[in-house]
Amino acid sequence: MANIHQFDVIVVGGGGAGLMAALNASKTARTAVISKLYPVRSHTGAAQGGIGAALGNIEEDSPDWHTFDTVKGSDYLGDQDAIEFMCHEAVQAVLDLEHMGLPFTRTADGRIAQRPFGGHTNNVTGKPVRRSCYAADRTGHMILQTLYQQCIKNNTLFYDEFQVMDLLLVDGKAAGVVAVELATGELHVFHAKAVIFATGGHGRIWEITSNAYAYTGDGCAITARRGIPLEDMEFFQFHPTGIFKLGILITEAVRGEGGILFNAKGERFMEKYAPRIKDLASRDVISRAMYLETRAGNDVNGQRFFYLDVTPETVNKYADLDGRTRPDGTPYHVTAAEIMSKIPDIADFCLTYLGVDPTRQPIPVQPTAHYAMGGIPTDKYGRVVVDEKNTVLPGLYAAGEVACVSVHGANRLGTNSLVDLVVFGKHAGLDAAAYANGADFTPLPANPTELVDETIARFQNGSGKERVAKIGSELRAEMFDNVGVFRTQESLEHAVEKVKELRERYLQVKVTDSGKIFNMEMMQTWELGNMLDLALVTAVSALARTESRGGHARDDFPARDDVNWLKHTLAWMNGDQVTLGYKPVVITKYMPKERTY
Ligand code: FUM
Repeated sequence: MANIHQFDVIVVGGGGAGLMAALNASKTARTAVISKLYPVRSHTGAAQGGIGAALGNIEEDSPDWHTFDTVKGSDYLGDQDAIEFMCHEAVQAVLDLEHMGLPFTRTADGRIAQRPFGGHTNNVTGKPVRRSCYAADRTGHMILQTLYQQCIKNNTLFYDEFQVMDLLLVDGKAAGVVAVELATGELHVFHAKAVIFATGGHGRIWEITSNAYAYTGDGCAITARRGIPLEDMEFFQFHPTGIFKLGILITEAVRGEGGILFNAKGERFMEKYAPRIKDLASRDVISRAMYLETRAGNDVNGQRFFYLDVTPETVNKYADLDGRTRPDGTPYHVTAAEIMSKIPDIADFCLTYLGVDPTRQPIPVQPTAHYAMGGIPTDKYGRVVVDEKNTVLPGLYAAGEVACVSVHGANRLGTNSLVDLVVFGKHAGLDAAAYANGADFTPLPANPTELVDETIARFQNGSGKERVAKIGSELRAEMFDNVGVFRTQESLEHAVEKVKELRERYLQVKVTDSGKIFNMEMMQTWELGNMLDLALVTAVSALARTESRGGHARDDFPARDDVNWLKHTLAWMNGDQVTLGYKPVVITKYMPKERTY
């Protein structure tokens, strides 16, 4: 018999969105956070370079410019009402973090420092604007630490190292979740009036990724199994600067601080693809440029990587060529010490993993799977919506990378993930608490652990002919090769068939560890099932979309097609079947235009 707990609001996931939701929900409702990790180990910590907000601390800026840049960055697929809401709320959200004690890097006169980031511009000149508020290159870490401390101060209850495996829906409403306690293997039922999923993304389905091992798409897979659609799953962002072969993120802030990308011929190739803002173009544009350079034979050693050079000599030379100045009008000239103070963690990663000192040598980089623009469909209050008409499912919420509001559309701008999780985490928490305070508990189903019991029994009774590690590595290679930066009908059809084959083989897996205490073989087996589900939805959604837009680039359909495809995909899973539907994009002020940078 499972342990039963009762809370007004349950938050699943202890990263930035989950902590923000919990902090706000717990002001008025009995709230608990369930996290498969110790919260400050969450993947929010990988967001290095900053959180975007038009504070205008260094130069003129406005939330309206931030809104336009985000709409343009999204390749016009983002919902403009939600984007405007987010970019305007971003300013107060950053000030709130400051007041909670977040140790932002400061200007000489003590204000929050800001740096340029890809796709963020002065809308008058078109030049990069300093909008990213940062704590060296540890911004995500600092957000996690700050919010976790606030939650502890406010007595928020945490169930750390509990893996949620199922969502309970009764009479079309959320009724709670089922989790396994990793330390004991015991099942726990969390009966709740409102459930907020804040479980992050699913980048581990690609071979080269910046994502943590925990990023296996649990929230999307759990909700999809319960009949909730997933939105815009074909749009997955490849960040252009992952460490060669390892994928570990080299923050865009390196380019914000003046770093330049070079091909094997020593050419600053971004001049060709984004003549105005060059190395600070949006990520989709740069990742595609790298792919095209590779195709032209301009990658280094024919090994599909490029050089990111942030040595003072290079930064200073190109700053002069670009006419980049400091706010006081003096030339933007840096020293090695200044670079080290702005990107200390990056310098450490480069030394540790590559033996490269970035103040003296260029860093070998390649595109790395980074961020899911798609996810569980929500409105701007975090309420999950389940169809083309945006019908709300009472009591169910999602926020952060697991959710699709949609503020990122087809491509997210750097720094907007942190804005998203802070703004929508807060609103999901507030709305869930308000909902819970006006609602009764929905009775639990007769056997709440039925699906989890069946799943565990299947893993224990598999034939053992297949291994999790083998299926996982075949999946990651297939997705990287065929559902990567560029796709074609042929590559996507191949991926759909391959993922279906892997799903069949997955049924033959057997968990050999019969222990209950930290049975990570069991957990990794379950996580692989989630990744297989999301890979299938991604490939099927991408195959259907016969255009190129943002993070979805079709070699066989190279143009954006607003006549037929200015719409969001909804994908419902039923076993191996994925059914697709579509809903309109919300356009308020900005009619789609060709994107140039
Ligand atoms: O490049 C970076 O620092 C990543 C930030 C982000 O994904 O927003």
